[in-house]
Amino acid sequence: MQLRVLGTAAGGGVPQWNCACPGCAGARAHPDRRRRHASLAVRADDDHWYLINATPDIADQIEHTPALHPGPGARRTPVAGIVLTDAELDHTLGLARLREADRIEVLAADPVRAALRERLRLDDVLTPYADLAWRELAAAPAPLSAGSDIEISAVPVSAKRPRYAAGSRTAATGPWVVALRLHDRRTGGTALYAPALADWPDAFQAAVTDADLVLLDGTFWDDEEPRRSGFATRTATGMGHLPIDGPGGTARRLAPLAARCLYTHLNNTNPLVDPAAPQHQELAARGLAVAAEGMEIAL
Ligand code: MLT
Ligand code: MN
Ligand code: ZN
Repeated sequence: MQLRVLGTAAGGGVPQWNCACPGCAGARAHPDRRRRHASLAVRADDDHWYLINATPDIADQIEHTPALHPGPGARRTPVAGIVLTDAELDHTLGLARLREADRIEVLAADPVRAALRERLRLDDVLTPYADLAWRELAAAPAPLSAGSDIEISAVPVSAKRPRYAAGSRTAATGPWVVALRLHDRRTGGTALYAPALADWPDAFQAAVTDADLVLLDGTFWDDEEPRRSGFATRTATGMGHLPIDGPGGTARRLAPLAARCLYTHLNNTNPLVDPAAPQHQELAARGLAVAAEGMEIAL
């Protein structure tokens, strides 16, 4: 299985357009610290890749990844479709950016599809440009594309809704946020991608235990970070992101695992956006690290 890390930032990116916090200012002064919105590309077969989440940076992410460039042929793209972990704007706004396609295949759980259709009216808006071809993303493993050795399945994580869908009534049932399990039947390699982790259900623990690679929600270093930085009144947990550090943090759950574990979806307030931050040593001492932009991983 071939994976490319296309971005590692939470909503807003690093730097965020309206933010002068130390993390954002640092990224303006040192362009190598810039992080695009969190996304991952997975190769389904020789000619086809799927992008996990469609971020506001999607076109830029494709341009920075030669394997995703179009050709041969004027309008032939290796980007075969999009898989959504949730309906958050930082993971879905990029769908509109792909409207130059004739057809966009989108794998999503039912509530995510319903939110995008009923609240964002994405089908209504995009159909005059491109057809959205929805595919059910289920808990049962299914080939990523016809004939692919890669199996994809959804591991339900939480019922956290995007703010724009907070009060909506929908007939859709199922999880609002999932982790994705990608398993290569040929090599036996398994990756788990979980950029939005409000809870740690038993099924998620089973999935991380079974994985060779875990890419995990690293939005906030500690639970008080959003309040301390002054941009929010809620804790990290209250915002739907388990923090990395602390008693309820994810680092102590990941440390005993056999899997290679990398954090992604970093908020610009996270001290880890500074490569010199001592928190990197704390992670390293636990055998953990932060995912790098453009990282290639083979499993
Ligand atoms: C989140 O990860 O909690 C959301 O993406 C927040 C947001 O960007 O609005
Ligand atoms: Mn987000
Ligand atoms: Zn900032």
